[in-house]
Amino acid sequence: MENFEKRLRDALAELFLPPYGAVLVYRESFTSTNDLILEGLSGGKPPAIIAVANSQTRGRGRQEHRWFSVAGKDITTSLGFYPTNFGIAITTRYALACAVLVARALQNACGISVELKWPNDLVIGQKKIGGILVLNLHRYLVTGIGINVNSSPEEFPEEVREKITTVKQLLGHEVDRACIIYHIAKNFLDYFLSKGAEEEALLMEWASRCRYLGKKQRILVGGEVVDAIVRDIDRQTGELVCEDEKGNTITLSVVDSILAE
Ligand code: BTN
Repeated sequence: MENFEKRLRDALAELFLPPYGAVLVYRESFTSTNDLILEGLSGGKPPAIIAVANSQTRGRGRQEHRWFSVAGKDITTSLGFYPTNFGIAITTRYALACAVLVARALQNACGISVELKWPNDLVIGQKKIGGILVLNLHRYLVTGIGINVNSSPEEFPEEVREKITTVKQLLGHEVDRACIIYHIAKNFLDYFLSKGAEEEALLMEWASRCRYLGKKQRILVGGEVVDAIVRDIDRQTGELVCEDEKGNTITLSVVDSILAE
């Protein structure tokens, strides 16, 4: 067994037992951990699948973008849940809750306080440190999470180098990826076990970590580009409430984007 896999199995051991009952599917290299979720189904339908690849060869991001990560240094993981208390619809509320669950894990595992960008980018200042992609696969609600951990920006393709940062760059030293994955998986498992009891608190924390509440942004909503001030999060739907230059209210759902500040 490779060192990282062994370290991971040790760190996650508690999550394989009741009440969690998660299974780990690990590969040294795989196209995308989202595809790897399917391998977790070979022995039945576990309630939770944690898929981890030490390196991803075809990582996917939101809006058909590619997702880059450095082999053996970054985190590429997907968490699959079945059945969920909420069905498998990809709601704006869930997308935002995911961002906070990952942000909390980074805080607990390495003391980093990240800000959030709509809907679920993890950022430090203007630079992205992680991203989340939620999808449905074989009736599982799958949450793919990529975090730049022990890599350096110079190891990324030129086109993204200036736009990203890494945990190592921030802290000045490497950290244990297995420990971060443990905190992420535990936060999600607790969230599902509690039937999303904390969802409203998660939305409020999303708002407190949002880097542009009260600021003017260029947004892409329903295919149209509009300048608007970001006002708040709707506590019921999780939608981002904005106000355009004429004072009209515009709400952004998980499929809408913020283009620039
Ligand atoms: C984004 O910000 O665009 C979302 C990035 C999501 C990347 C992760 S890495 C693990 C999982 N596998 C993928 O191919 N994508 C997600």
